[in-house]
Amino acid sequence: MGLFTSAKMIQPVKRLVGSVRMPGDKSISHRYAILAAIAEGPSEIHGFSASADCRSTLECLKQLGVKIECQEHTVVVQGAGLSGLRAPAASLDAGNSGTTMRMLAGILAGQPFRSVLTGDASLSRRPMKRVIDPLTRMGARIQSAEGGLPPLEIEGGTLKPIRYELPVPSAQVKSAVLLAGLFAEGGTEVIEPVATRDHTEIALEQMGADISRRGRTIAVRGYARLEGRKLYVPGDISSAAFFLVAALLVPASNLVIENVGLNPTRTAILDLLAPMGGRVRVLNVEMVNGELLGNLRVEASRLQGGEIPPEAVPGLIDELPVLAVLGTQTEQGLAFHGAAELRVKESDRIAVVAENLRRMGAEVEEFPDGLRVAGQQKLRGAEIETRGDHRMAMAFTAAGLIADGPTIIRDSACVDVSFPDFFETLARVTA
Ligand code: S3P
Repeated sequence: MGLFTSAKMIQPVKRLVGSVRMPGDKSISHRYAILAAIAEGPSEIHGFSASADCRSTLECLKQLGVKIECQEHTVVVQGAGLSGLRAPAASLDAGNSGTTMRMLAGILAGQPFRSVLTGDASLSRRPMKRVIDPLTRMGARIQSAEGGLPPLEIEGGTLKPIRYELPVPSAQVKSAVLLAGLFAEGGTEVIEPVATRDHTEIALEQMGADISRRGRTIAVRGYARLEGRKLYVPGDISSAAFFLVAALLVPASNLVIENVGLNPTRTAILDLLAPMGGRVRVLNVEMVNGELLGNLRVEASRLQGGEIPPEAVPGLIDELPVLAVLGTQTEQGLAFHGAAELRVKESDRIAVVAENLRRMGAEVEEFPDGLRVAGQQKLRGAEIETRGDHRMAMAFTAAGLIADGPTIIRDSACVDVSFPDFFETLARVTA
């Protein structure tokens, strides 16, 4: 963030109506770009995320010698093949994006050159030991700042396959090991404690990798040729979550969110809201490139609230901040544990959610690994400190729509990280 930070004023609204489209799914966009870069031949990626995070991935790939052209929301990648990347002339800047840094670490571990991955102030505080450990076991030499923090200096080379049980449920770490496995002789296996988003596995299957899945074990064989292809990115359900929650909470709302990715490893929010009384209907479901997508119709609802079980937490990890906001409007309130990972996201999301809910006058209890918010609370307009975290800006914008009086979102430009048109899109459906 620069010296002059942006601020937005949010006024309470009467309803959300009409239909909206979300930016292309951020997780899927990163994966398609990275895999297209090491595939043979061109890939055309439609609906690519406009986020700053995915732009960071594209810029890093360009520095590795990959030819990439962007027109509107279509990205054309000329695949360099498994052995076609070249040593970057400067360090690779992952910006705010943990996914960029961790997934590229997996690719760079298998390259016959040295590279350095850096990030912004927030990313420079995020744990990288979780990728350093397995990639080192595979034979890469990786140096980091003290405590396993960025920057990462990676001396890659020929890798050994490993069998790796993930110590934390993390799709980013799983993906880093699977991507490194593409550069290892033989079969690399990853075992997940709980299922996390499986876009990497699906994209690898779609592009012709030698990959198999049995329960929580994923196995990939090295050096199988990947084929470039035409790919289509569905809308991001984690971006849709802010609109879903806003439309559930603002009385008289009736909103359609079109073209949203509905991969079952991402729809835990729908599974949570339905039994609580959330009126969300899923319409026009289809499958494209192995990914489900469809439209969501959401109507204002009375919600029960309750306790989110810890096993549901990994599937809701990006949605928990906005769900905490929703919790304040439920009958019973909302609580969750088992979410210590939230403390090492773009900000300490447990602390920042608690701080801002309190600024709005809400009662909230903070745990080392979770939160409890009381239900049936009146929120009052307040100044929100986003700490430069995009999901805080959007979660508290949703809160501002139902608050008494205006809410100021400080550092609001941080929404660019995942959803540059967030405020404009919201303005089109609020009345
Ligand atoms: C992501 C996985 C999640 C999520 C992040 C995107 C991905 O992180 O929070 O926004 O694209 O793989 P972890 O896998 O580290 O939990």
